[in-house]
Amino acid sequence: MSQSSDTVLVVDFGAQYAQLIARRVREAHVFSEIVQSSISAEAIAKRNPSAIIFSGGPKSVYEEGAPSIDQGIYDLGIPLLGICYGAQLMARDLGGTVEATGRGEYGRTTIDVQQSARLIEGWPGSSTVWMSHGDSITQAPPGAVAIASTPEAPVAIYADDEHRRYGVQFHPEVAHTERGQDLLVTFLREIAELPPRWTHTSIIESEVAKIQAQIGTEQVLCALSGGVDSAVAAALVHKAVGDQLTCVFVDTGLMRSNEADQVEETFRRQFNIELIHVKAADRFFDALEGVTDPERKRKIIGELFIRIFEEVARDLGAGTKGSGPRFLVQGTLYPDVIESGSGHAANIKSHHNVGGLPEDLDFELCEPLRDLFKDEVRAVGEELGLPESLVWRQPFPGPGLAVRIVGEVTRERAEILRNADFVVVDEIRKAGLYRDLWQSFAVLPAVRTVGVMGDGRTYAYPIVIRAVTSDDAMTADWARLPYDLLETIANRLINEVDGVNRVALDITSKPPGTIEWE
Ligand code: XMP
Repeated sequence: MSQSSDTVLVVDFGAQYAQLIARRVREAHVFSEIVQSSISAEAIAKRNPSAIIFSGGPKSVYEEGAPSIDQGIYDLGIPLLGICYGAQLMARDLGGTVEATGRGEYGRTTIDVQQSARLIEGWPGSSTVWMSHGDSITQAPPGAVAIASTPEAPVAIYADDEHRRYGVQFHPEVAHTERGQDLLVTFLREIAELPPRWTHTSIIESEVAKIQAQIGTEQVLCALSGGVDSAVAAALVHKAVGDQLTCVFVDTGLMRSNEADQVEETFRRQFNIELIHVKAADRFFDALEGVTDPERKRKIIGELFIRIFEEVARDLGAGTKGSGPRFLVQGTLYPDVIESGSGHAANIKSHHNVGGLPEDLDFELCEPLRDLFKDEVRAVGEELGLPESLVWRQPFPGPGLAVRIVGEVTRERAEILRNADFVVVDEIRKAGLYRDLWQSFAVLPAVRTVGVMGDGRTYAYPIVIRAVTSDDAMTADWARLPYDLLETIANRLINEVDGVNRVALDITSKPPGTIEWE
């Protein structure tokens, strides 16, 4: 890619430690890419990176099967920073000593600087760092100097200024390391001499240029889901090729309150994008009649979605040689394409996504977000002028409210849940917690319970409040919402939402629970 000489390669030594490092490098406005540790020195040289960072990893360098690196990498003359496992591996490879001292360090500790050096210029004598190691480097490799230590790590930083090779035992990418980002920035700017060129404006410029080169004068189609990824992808493609883009929004009747209106308002009115709004709620409710099994619900919704999308595409002439849209926009993100060091592309989203590709239509894919992390997608969305409420929207499952309605999905139950969900989200927003939570929503169980309102007995549904914190949806913790907020939500749910007479709170973390109820 065009930025290659401004690129930092982050070598992943396992367990996705590399992702956070790659994001921190980008926050320093330098483009970064993750590569697996099995990459050859020759392949690295071809990519012509300006710096290389070795990530941490869960193994000991002496463990059988511990990842290693092509030794030729040390002869490339490219600035190198090793972190934790990466620092130990580099120390060992270059003739230093790594030992299982039996005294590991986990969590916060204090680092003492013994000698000043370019990498840590301006650091105080001691500061806090975040550690997670069993083995320790006991001797820096020849040519390198040990410049800092912690109680259990005699060589917590080593520096070889001549060869521009550095190792740090702690994790600079973690927010608990006081000077962590400083250290990364110093490595990038001062040592690797990388200018801060990766900015939101430059991302937009380079993506627009790539899209234009790919699409040329062809027509392109994009399915909007109401979520941030497809919205930003569509806005970027529109900026690049204007009205060659047609967007399709399939309203399944299982969207959140106001979602369909906002998509219409944003894309048709604000951006003037050609939008085909398919109001298909009846078809979805008919197809879901009598269905209670969660996986069948997903399958029915997914298949019907594809069928409807296909109908629209064919109406536009797709699949006919020489006319109609040839490209399909997908909101694939960088974490979706990274293969983890452990060899499996661990991403929960891909197999979850509703939609997929109409198989026999033979589109070519346009994936303008393939290089981007979620925070960059949001920043690009804001820069492009998408509304804040869309750009910062919490994730929403492809099958929509259907996986939050336990049992049969009917129009009536979808309406109850949509209204309840609106109240939950509205109060969470007012409390200023919306962005801090990974997801917060209402669930409608398949039971009714007895209540009393005024003089009468009620027999209606309970609503369960589900709010979680998470970084990636793989694990999640239930959010400790303030009691006052819970009380306000409960009062409003019972008073404002017809069909609801009781409120419960889900306090299950993931694992063992999942975030959604189905
Ligand atoms: P769970 O419930 O498995 O969800 O903890 C993890 C994340 O995935 C979302 N999710 C889905 N997304 N189609 C999607 O596009 C689905 O069928 C689906 N099921 C769950 C969920 O909202 C959470 O963010």
